[in-house]
Amino acid sequence: MGRYADEYTRSLGDPDGFWLDAARAIDWTTPPTRALDDGNPPFYRWFPDGELNTCHNALDRHVDGGRAEQAALRYDSPVTGTVRTYTYRELRDETARFAGVLRGLGVGKGDRVVIYMPMVPEAVVAMLACARIGAVHSVVFGGFAPNELAVRIDDAAPRIVVAASCGIEPKRVVEYGPLLDRAVELAEHKPEHCVMLQRKQARADLREGRDLDWHELMASAEPVDCVPVAATDPLYVLYTSGTTGKPKGVVRDNGGHAVALHWSMGNVYGLAPGETMLTGSDIGWVVGHSYIVYAPLLYGATTVLYEGKPVGTPDAGAYWRLVADHGVSVVFTAPTAFRAIKKEDPDGVHLKRHDVSSLRFLFLAGERLDPETYTWAAELLRIPVLDHWWQTESGWPMVANLRGLEPMPPKPGSPSVSVPGYDVRILRPDGSPADIGEDGDIAVRLPLPPGCLPTLWDDDERYVASYLSRYPGHYLTGDGGHVDEDGYLFVMGRTDDVINVAGHRLSTGALEEVIAEHPAVAECCVVGVHDELKGQVPRAFVVLKAGATADADVLQGELMRRVRDEVGGIASLRRVDVVRALPKTRSGKILRKTLRGIADGRDEPVPSTIEDATVLDDLKPILRAG
Ligand code: COA
Ligand code: AMP
Repeated sequence: MGRYADEYTRSLGDPDGFWLDAARAIDWTTPPTRALDDGNPPFYRWFPDGELNTCHNALDRHVDGGRAEQAALRYDSPVTGTVRTYTYRELRDETARFAGVLRGLGVGKGDRVVIYMPMVPEAVVAMLACARIGAVHSVVFGGFAPNELAVRIDDAAPRIVVAASCGIEPKRVVEYGPLLDRAVELAEHKPEHCVMLQRKQARADLREGRDLDWHELMASAEPVDCVPVAATDPLYVLYTSGTTGKPKGVVRDNGGHAVALHWSMGNVYGLAPGETMLTGSDIGWVVGHSYIVYAPLLYGATTVLYEGKPVGTPDAGAYWRLVADHGVSVVFTAPTAFRAIKKEDPDGVHLKRHDVSSLRFLFLAGERLDPETYTWAAELLRIPVLDHWWQTESGWPMVANLRGLEPMPPKPGSPSVSVPGYDVRILRPDGSPADIGEDGDIAVRLPLPPGCLPTLWDDDERYVASYLSRYPGHYLTGDGGHVDEDGYLFVMGRTDDVINVAGHRLSTGALEEVIAEHPAVAECCVVGVHDELKGQVPRAFVVLKAGATADADVLQGELMRRVRDEVGGIASLRRVDVVRALPKTRSGKILRKTLRGIADGRDEPVPSTIEDATVLDDLKPILRAG
């Protein structure tokens, strides 16, 4: 057997031995004597008797262990013209002081802190400071509108919100102050204070009594030490889109998370401590949590925090410049970023202007990697380009080409093989295993390995209902696909109403809720349709209320504005069509999959359960015109 097969088999056959060995890479205040706690299925916990502090493992242990003057974080911000390096010592000192600020505001173990910030070092400091004192952070992506922030504030019930005064998009400065004010106004739960990082591109008006200035607080704060927490205590909650408008609060624990992420850096990404990783994402997404912040730091590597875009800041050579300037060994981003680079610079002219000889691997995830983009990137870079598949819930790769453990020949269209710890299965609707090559639901047999969500925030019931009840004993990923004769997985897409727009996960249900609130709309349906650049974009079909009249262009404009105002610009609603009726089954379910298929140019069979086939016939030309 090869190394991969050995390790994979051991991870499933002897999870205790496998993960206790992996746990030795982490500093524990109380080392665990057991790995898996399976005493309360379907809830599983990892390292139930271990205690540690994640911030200590990410910062202090490296300062004490000889990396104090090594770069921990390189902030590179073309949108503000700033490049700044933080050594492990500097990042530890800033974090310890901000932990003092939080403690001074009464934040303690288990309290929640919402972080609404762009890609600035202070956001990383705020996350790690929470970890330092055992508080639970919940980062909200800066591109979300106030309503989305409000929903998260209500669910997480934070004592404090930490925000920045603005984010910077290539064409505009996004003022966070008014967005935050609106969100707090909309939320039922009121945070005690908002700590505001004032940026000079747009300063926020501070509200007397509620708002406090980051720099003023830091000037007088005393550093505080790491507080040991149980391995099973929550480190963070990250909200992600489900099938309804209410996002799911994915919980991450401390111990399993630290162990799994550390293990992944060497075995999946093939990095050595001291090397540099550039993850082109945002700290508001799981990719940013895991591979901009936690994994590189837990591993003693250097992370690049890039406040910019793959194109337009200033050009399609941005990533190549970053690789050259920071000596990057591994780049990880979403396929959309590469589609954008390919569109602007198909011949790779920009690449030739930079020395990218340090770059060993390009990892891509977050959405389907189309074979054209894969081939283009592989031919351009002449290094391994590696698709890998995971999700917010898992927190780290589920299926990958494990470059550090045993490199596999890549197959275009496949993220490769199951990562040790993940018993990935393809199931038929009746729960029986699918044959090789047969499409089915992608599920993972329980228990999920360390690092994966133990539950949803304050909602065990929804955790079970959303993920564990469809196939008892298995976690339902929400994706469909098949496995080939070599054990390679092929992910065909979501089987639910979640869509992926430029690597951003969105719920069509949430968009439908916003559209349905328009006074002229009786009923609506949103589906994700193929888009050359963004992978998918949403399209809406609306039925007007009886007697309502609306100019189609005016209505489309109004609905697009509503979606932007209530969800955020990232929702990118492409088009709205007014239709006479929506195609439904006899039991009243809208035939979304059929609509999506026709819009994407496929020859979809008309389901036998359709209530009125003429509705679909009327819609076909509209769908194909999009
Ligand atoms: N704060 C505020 N607004 C934001 C934002 C943020 N953090 N991120 C995006 N937006 C806005 C954009 O400015 C844009 O607004 P506009 O319609 O007024 O121009 C809108 O949301 C749509 O943004 P986006 O989907 O990013 O499209 P784009 O055309 O601006 O850029 C790409 C396209 C491909 C360059 C961009 O999506 C990208 O860099 N993707 C990389 C993938 C990625 O990071 N995925 C994250 C998960 S791994
Ligand atoms: P998120 O939780 O935002 O990371 O989104 C996770 C979803 O993105 C998955 O459930 C998939 O639908 C999709 N996804 C992520 N990585 C891949 C990949 N490599 N190939 C295909 N789809 C992917």
